[in-house]
Amino acid sequence: MSEKNEEFQKLKEECLACRSCGLCETRNNVVFGVGVDNAEVMLIGEGPGENEDLRGEPFVGRGGQLLDKMLAAVDLDRHKNIYIANIVKCRPPKNRDPLPEEQQQCIRWLRSQFKILKPKIIVCLGRIAAAKIIKPDIKIMKEHGQFFEKNGVLMMPILHPAALLRNPNNKPAAFEDFLKLQEKIKEICDHTYD
Ligand code: URA
Repeated sequence: MSEKNEEFQKLKEECLACRSCGLCETRNNVVFGVGVDNAEVMLIGEGPGENEDLRGEPFVGRGGQLLDKMLAAVDLDRHKNIYIANIVKCRPPKNRDPLPEEQQQCIRWLRSQFKILKPKIIVCLGRIAAAKIIKPDIKIMKEHGQFFEKNGVLMMPILHPAALLRNPNNKPAAFEDFLKLQEKIKEICDHTYD
């Protein structure tokens, strides 16, 4: 087992026992994250929905299937070369937006995941993740697909797959963003397509 893998396992065990906010009362599973521990690209969503809560894995519902399809088109795969996690690890009831205090309590897990992984590129899925990670006043419809640099890490907001299911007209624009991501990976990543 690699050193990173051991660190991830330990962190996951701690996270699965977390009771820092009220979301622990209604969860079925903590959704820690999925992916490879040498990923150079990390994707961040807002929080688990119903399917994710039941399965304990991020993005496994209809939105997740769409996400996997778009990722596959640019040679990315949650089991091969990326890591996917959420801002909050437990499902907000009725899929409401995670409250600022829930995000604040939970972000330490994501920070620890980031510290272990040390990704070169972060992709924020949707406004809530982008506002928390990139900048609070992000205008997702205007700024999706742009790269922002923070402490040497490139960050790109993209449209949330659930929003694309609601509004399929935006799918071509979202796909353009994935193509930009692919270009950037080719430019700066060492082994993402090995
Ligand atoms: N939406 C998210 O933001 N994250 C998930 O894991 C599923 C749906």
